[in-house]
Amino acid sequence: MDVSGVSAVVTGAASGLGRAVVNALAARAARVAAIDLPSTELASLASERVFTVPVDVTDGPMMESAFDDISNRHGRPRILVNCAGILAPARVFKIDRETGFAKPRNMTDLRRVIDVNLTGTFNTIRLFAAGLSDETGDDGADRGVIINTSSVAAYEALSGQAGYGASKAGVAAMTLPLARELARFGIRVVAVAPGSFETGVFERVPPQTQKQLLDDVPFPRRAGRPSEFASLVMEIVGNQMLNGAVVRIDGAVRMREPVGVA
Ligand SMILES: NC(=O)c1ccc[n+]([C@@H]2O[C@H](COP(=O)([O-])OP(=O)(O)OC[C@H]3O[C@@H](n4cnc5c(N)ncnc54)[C@H](O)[C@@H]3O)[C@@H](O)[C@H]2O)c1
Repeated sequence: MDVSGVSAVVTGAASGLGRAVVNALAARAARVAAIDLPSTELASLASERVFTVPVDVTDGPMMESAFDDISNRHGRPRILVNCAGILAPARVFKIDRETGFAKPRNMTDLRRVIDVNLTGTFNTIRLFAAGLSDETGDDGADRGVIINTSSVAAYEALSGQAGYGASKAGVAAMTLPLARELARFGIRVVAVAPGSFETGVFERVPPQTQKQLLDDVPFPRRAGRPSEFASLVMEIVGNQMLNGAVVRIDGAVRMREPVGVA
């Protein structure tokens, strides 16, 4: 797909991977709707080609009106890149210091990480796809492309990441059924599974764990750059044979439990 003049939506747009994608799309003259929670970082993205939309991706009605607004301003979106996500721990129990007994944790963290990373991703997909539901791919031309952000944690999540890993495995698992469902409308669906990238999510990992994670990357032994993620996204947008796949971008890392962190 040639992105020039095309309406595109990016979630998690204010920082990290999403921000790099907004910049890459705008540099190729796409008309970008940048969705994120309200912040000065989000507001700072506004430009002639970028329209900022402060909204929570988990909010059904607010997202519906956001998509109406985006279509009115930029035309019906044909590119959707879902980057909104959180890295929240979801452990199963903790030991009560006074009694020494295990106490099950509540469900709040698990529900939140599934809600933002998995349900929020599905929320944008349903609104995006509905906007293109009167189209067909009969002539072989791309009508739309959806790119979701999974993670290597979908396959190798660490201790404490049961919720995060499950949310990202869910994003990976919905790639093929969505690609099959949306094929007749000429819409492709691809997921990207990054290893460690230099962004807000990675910066919130404790420094010792960060070092161990990077020491395990065969090559190149460093965190990925948001521009490298954006470059892959742009390739997926332009390459029609990429469909129904989960693409790892990780320097060949296979995460293992860092020593002494369990
Ligand atoms: N950085 C990494 O190492 C890494 C690795 C694998 C996967 N990922 C995934 O990449 C995606 C982008 O993360 P990042 O690394 O750029 O981190 P980031 O924290 O810089 O960006 C995430 C963005 O999502 C936004 N967001 C969070 N909850 C939201 C909500 N409910 N509604 C709207 N926006 C919301 C945040 O405000 C933030 O701007 C995430 O899904 C993350 O899980 C990151």
